[in-house]
Amino acid sequence: MAHTMLSYGMTSTHGVVVISGEIGCGKTTLLEKLCTGNKYNFAIGRLEGQAGRSDDLHSWVLYAFGQPYKFGSQIESLEALKHFLQGLANRKSKAILFIDEAQLIDEPTLEGLRLLADKLYNGKPALQLVLLGQPELGRIINQPSLTQLRQRVVSHYHLKPLKPQETYGYIQQRLVICGGDKHLFSNEALMMVHQASKGVPRAINIFCDTAMVYAFSEGAKKIDRKMIETVINDRANHGLLDSSVDPAFTQ
Ligand SMILES: Nc1ncnc2c1ncn2[C@@H]1O[C@H](COP(=O)(O)OP(=O)(O)OP(=O)(O)O)[C@@H](O)[C@H]1O
Ligand SMILES: [Mg+2]
Repeated sequence: MAHTMLSYGMTSTHGVVVISGEIGCGKTTLLEKLCTGNKYNFAIGRLEGQAGRSDDLHSWVLYAFGQPYKFGSQIESLEALKHFLQGLANRKSKAILFIDEAQLIDEPTLEGLRLLADKLYNGKPALQLVLLGQPELGRIINQPSLTQLRQRVVSHYHLKPLKPQETYGYIQQRLVICGGDKHLFSNEALMMVHQASKGVPRAINIFCDTAMVYAFSEGAKKIDRKMIETVINDRANHGLLDSSVDPAFTQ
């Protein structure tokens, strides 16, 4: 669903697309998938939120699109960026800028990005923004001072943790992809992984990977409830991850 929304956002003529989601729920994975499957022949640029600094925004954007850039020369960079976007517009194309960890971008930079995306080339915007970030991003964009940006959001999708059936399907699909036994985990074990991970894909991966290492070391052919219990207990007693700071690891 998020993939469809993003694809729609990419093919629509203009506007801002926002994808928010909890830590480890798959935002960057989704971004990778969209960037590598660029079947639209648009120019694709990528930035991480912490890279976008308001004092040199235009250079960062040029950098994201693989264009020559020079930090510290704002007017030159703006002219180069306009030239780049005009070239795309002349070829009836556009630029899509993906910004991961967008919750780290400061307000003036967000406003600067909005202004860049607003500018028309041959009567149409030539730069589209796709912002991905933690749930805080939604709160940032909802601030009254960012009303103009908010009004340009054409689609917003919030990635949620997986539901129980989705977790089971996710684990089984990963097993099939790597040529393994789809039924390696018993139903009870799948249920426990879901509970322990709270449906967060990154946490699911860690619990399952650890359980498979345990199974391998014991020569077990199946992963049952008891083995997942051991993984959970070991993680609670000896693990590096602190459940008080990462809710996905709270039991
Ligand atoms: N739809 C999916 N299909 C396959 N794997 C997924 C999917 N979603 C998440 N994952 C897995 O979960 C892990 C975490 O995903 P990802 O890094 O994309 O999350 P994130 O939302 O960007 O996290 P963060 O907020 O920490 O940046 C990835 O390593 C990936 O293996
Ligand atoms: Mg990420």
